[in-house]
Amino acid sequence: MQSAAIDEIFAAFDRYGHERYGERVTQLDHALQCAQLAALEGANDSLVAATLLHDFGHLVDGRGDLAERDSLDGQHEAVGAERLSAWFGPTVVRPIALHVAAKRYLCAASPGYFKGLSPASRLSLELQGGAHSAAEAERFLAEPFAQDAVRLRRWDDQGKVAGLPPPPPLGSYRALLAGLMRAA
Ligand SMILES: [Fe+2]
Repeated sequence: MQSAAIDEIFAAFDRYGHERYGERVTQLDHALQCAQLAALEGANDSLVAATLLHDFGHLVDGRGDLAERDSLDGQHEAVGAERLSAWFGPTVVRPIALHVAAKRYLCAASPGYFKGLSPASRLSLELQGGAHSAAEAERFLAEPFAQDAVRLRRWDDQGKVAGLPPPPPLGSYRALLAGLMRAA
């Protein structure tokens, strides 16, 4: 079961991971760069997995950024979290579900954060509701896994660099993902 599930996840990257969705790197490179950053900063296995899979919602059924191109919020964080919850528990799924909220939070809480966002992330921010209000930020911080989502978000913003040496490949995460999956 675990092996089939991982094959399904990897197949989505095979199929749609070459897309860029307005960024300078492909979805696959972005996922791998982010996961590498998480691992280098000592994130635990759950958070490395969450970071690797945080944009999985873009890959589900090839949704990509179709909604955003129509100026809609495709809610990829919810789509990805929902699909991945078939296989992973909240330590993986919740930081993924919250990574857009973390961007909205950081825009409100961290001076200069907005300026560091990629053009595509700035554009989607508007569709996602913009910077948090004080009340929204308070609600976000009260969520379990909010701090993991903020860490994930920082790697998300950094893992978009073109021309880097290739990060560890997707296959190198197979054992880590298998170790986190729910028992059949
Ligand atoms: Fe991302």
